[in-house]
Amino acid sequence: MAARTMRAVQYAGYGGGAAALQHVEIQVPSPKKDEVLLRVEAASMNPADWKVQKGMMRPFLPSKFPFVPGEVVEVGPGVDGFKPGDKVVTWLGFALRYATTKFDGTGDPANVLITAASGGVGMFAVQLAKLGNLHVTATCGARNMELVRSLGADEVLDYKTPEGKSLKSPSGRKYDIVVHCTSSVGWSSLESNLAAHGKLVLLFAMATKEDLQFLVELVKGGKLRTVIDSRYALGKAEEAWAKSMEGHATGKIIVERDQVMDI
Ligand SMILES: NC(=O)c1ccc[n+]([C@@H]2O[C@H](COP(=O)([O-])OP(=O)(O)OC[C@H]3O[C@@H](n4cnc5c(N)ncnc54)[C@H](OP(=O)(O)O)[C@@H]3O)[C@@H](O)[C@H]2O)c1
Repeated sequence: MAARTMRAVQYAGYGGGAAALQHVEIQVPSPKKDEVLLRVEAASMNPADWKVQKGMMRPFLPSKFPFVPGEVVEVGPGVDGFKPGDKVVTWLGFALRYATTKFDGTGDPANVLITAASGGVGMFAVQLAKLGNLHVTATCGARNMELVRSLGADEVLDYKTPEGKSLKSPSGRKYDIVVHCTSSVGWSSLESNLAAHGKLVLLFAMATKEDLQFLVELVKGGKLRTVIDSRYALGKAEEAWAKSMEGHATGKIIVERDQVMDI
């Protein structure tokens, strides 16, 4: 029987940016004992993708990507709980259970600063913080201030203004939690705004199955919305890559499966 093949976008080594991506036809892998084979419907393009390519995460994450949603088409003999046809969603990224926040609003009140709240991570962080009944101060560019307010932020700062650069809460709050979604603001700016026992949330954590189920339920229930910056077919993946590298997405950049590429 002829080997089944599928289209893929890959790069062969570190560096090169969007121009280094290659469209290739590769053999469909067979799931090993504890693996499932997924038909990918859509994936988000994230800074993590090109940071891995740049080698910025080399000590931690040499090749662990992509993290993709799709449909199970085959399961390995040791896999329980999945069967062909199951719709699945995988890793969504950041530390959902940050600090001690309870998302039913019964937790202690706290002040949170969310930087780059217009980005793919920040937009979720704002909404989750509001579900946790936290007071949210958010930063973003002027063009997205209304959007970030509509996600629930109580105070929004334009990061290009002196007020935004200072990260000071307009109502004079010190932050108990900082969800820091941009690397272009240094620790020194944050430090003076932190409360005595303030926590900085690092955006690197694996989500559990329970975390993902919780998020999916929020989405289904209309409590968590996804802002989509742009959509690209897999054939244009390098454009999505370049767009992410520019660092000016509002919400998520999506790469979708072309209709003709069923495996
Ligand atoms: N995406 C993930 O799943 C994931 C997972 C783990 C960790 N992370 C990390 O989390 C960070 C954020 O990721 P992301 O996907 O949210 O990024 P992103 O979508 O690329 O963020 C872009 C947004 O950030 C805004 N922005 C840029 N600089 C800013 C600043 N100094 N202050 C306020 N807003 C600023 C931009 O606004 P303008 O266009 O107006 O400039 C734009 O709307 C990255 O460091 C990433 O590596 C991401």
